[in-house]
Amino acid sequence: MAFAPFIKKKTPSFFVNPDRQLWRCFGACQTGGDVLAFLMKYENITFFEALKELAQETGVKLEHSAIEDRAWQQKEKLVNIHAIATKYYHYLLMEHSLGKAARDYLDERGINEKVRETFQLGYAPASWDSLGAYLQKKGFNYEDMLTAGLVIKSTKGSYYDRFRNRLMFPIIDARDYVIAFSGRTLNKDTKEAKYINSPETPLYHKRETLYGLHVAKDAIRSEKKAMIVEGEFDMISSFMHGITNTVAVKGSIVTIDQIKLLKKYTDHLILALDSDFSGTETTLRAIKDGEEMDMRIDIITFSFGKDPDEALKNDAITFKKLLKSPISLYDFVINTVVQRHNIEDPFEKKKLAEEVMPFLSTIENPIIKAHYIKKLAQILSTDEKAIEMTLRDHLFKQKKKTRRVLQRTVPEKDKYESLQKTLLACIVQNDAPQELYKKAAAIIDDSDFTIPSYKELFTIIGLMPHSEGEDFVKELVKKLPPPLFRRFLILFF
Ligand code: CTP
Ligand code: MN
Repeated sequence: MAFAPFIKKKTPSFFVNPDRQLWRCFGACQTGGDVLAFLMKYENITFFEALKELAQETGVKLEHSAIEDRAWQQKEKLVNIHAIATKYYHYLLMEHSLGKAARDYLDERGINEKVRETFQLGYAPASWDSLGAYLQKKGFNYEDMLTAGLVIKSTKGSYYDRFRNRLMFPIIDARDYVIAFSGRTLNKDTKEAKYINSPETPLYHKRETLYGLHVAKDAIRSEKKAMIVEGEFDMISSFMHGITNTVAVKGSIVTIDQIKLLKKYTDHLILALDSDFSGTETTLRAIKDGEEMDMRIDIITFSFGKDPDEALKNDAITFKKLLKSPISLYDFVINTVVQRHNIEDPFEKKKLAEEVMPFLSTIENPIIKAHYIKKLAQILSTDEKAIEMTLRDHLFKQKKKTRRVLQRTVPEKDKYESLQKTLLACIVQNDAPQELYKKAAAIIDDSDFTIPSYKELFTIIGLMPHSEGEDFVKELVKKLPPPLFRRFLILFF
C-alpha cells in the first residue's frame, strides 16, 4: 500500500499485489493494471515507449513487432522535424549572412560561440515561408509542420512560418530531444510579443517542461539542489557564470508538474525570480506544492538587477553569495507581510498574523511548524500560545469551508457506491479475504448493497469454501457468471 502516485501524494490509496503483478489506485484516478499500464500513466508515454523503456531497464531484447503504434510514430516524426528545424535555424545563426543581426545581438548580450553551440541557438529569418519550404524539401508536409507548431494555417488555408526574424531557443527535454521552440524578437521597438513560443503539441506540454534541463540535470543531481529562474537568458547567464544547476520556468509560475520533474533529481529548490516578484498567490501555490511533493523550497531576493541575468552582470559575487544562503519561502512570506504592517499596533498585529496563517497551516512537519510559530511570536512580541490559537482558529474555519465544498461536489449516493466498491476490493485483494469478509458480515449483509452486481459478489464470497490468497481469487472467478466476471475484472484489476 502506498501514496497515490498520480494525483495527490498523501492519500494511501495505491495498492500493489506482487503475486498477481497488478496494481490498483483507489484515489481519485480509479485505475489499475500491470507494470506497463503503470509506466504509461506515470511517465505519460505510449504503450510502445513503456515497452521500450522496460526492455532497456531489464535487459530484454525487443524483436520488431508487426503491430505499429501510431502515436509513437507520430512522436518520432515530430522529434525528427524539430531536429531538422533546429539545425536549420542554427546554421543561419552561426554561418549565414541573414544571421548577422542575431549574431550582433548575442555579442551585445555577451553570449559566446561555445554557449551558442551548447544551447543550439538559432535564427529564424524574416520571411513567411522559409522554414516551411526547407522542411518540405526534406520530405515533410505542411500538416506535419502544423502539428509540430512550426507553421500557422491562415484563414485562406495557406501556411506560414510561426517564427519570423527571431532569435531561436530550442526547448530540449531531459533525453536531449528538441520538443519546441521559443523565439525572441530582434526588433527593439515593436508591438509584437517579446517572446513567442510553440503551442501545446503531442510533444510539448509547457507546464511539464523546464528550459535548460538537458544541460543542468547532472549538476542538479550532484549539487543536490536546483536554481529556478524565469527566462531563457537568466538560465544561460547563470550557466555562463558557473551556476550550472539552473533551469527556467519561462514565466513566473512554477507548476506542480515542473516540481515533479525536478523531484527526480533533487529535493531542494531555490527560486531566483525577477526582482519585481511579490505574488502572494504564486508563493502560496509553490508552498503547497512543495509540501505536497515533500520538497524544500527556498528563495533569494536581490535589488541590484531586474532579473538574475542583470544581477549577474552587475554583481556576480554578491549574487553567488546570496545563493549560498537563501531563505525559506516561509521566511520570505513572513518578511514581506511584516513590511506591510506596523508591528506596534495590536490590530495590525492581528491582521498580520491572519495573513500568515494560510502559509503556516500548510506546514506538515511539527518541528518546522514549531520554529515558525516561535518566530512569529517573537516578531509580534506575543506568546506562542496566542499564535497557536490563531492557527487552530484558522484551521477550524478552513475545515468548515472544505466540508461545505465536499458536500456540494460529491453527492451522498456516489460516496455510498464507491464505499461498496472499496469494501469489496479490500476483501478480494486481501491476503486473508475470508477473515475480512467475516468481519464485514458481522456488521452488514447483502441488503446493504445498492448495486446488484456488488450485492451478488458479496453473496458469492460468503458461500465460498475456505481458500487463501491466489487460490481464493481462482476459486472465486470460477464461481462467477460471465457478466459478473467481466464486471469483476474491470472493477478490481
Ligand atoms: N515569456 C514568454 N512569453 C512572453 C513573455 C515572456 O514566454 N510573451 C517568458 C520567456 O521565457 C522570458 C520569460 O518569460 O524569458 C521572462 O520574461 P521577461 O521578464 O519579460 O523577459 P526579459 O528578462 O525582459 O527578457 P530578455 O532578457 O530577453 O530581455
Ligand atoms: Mn532578462
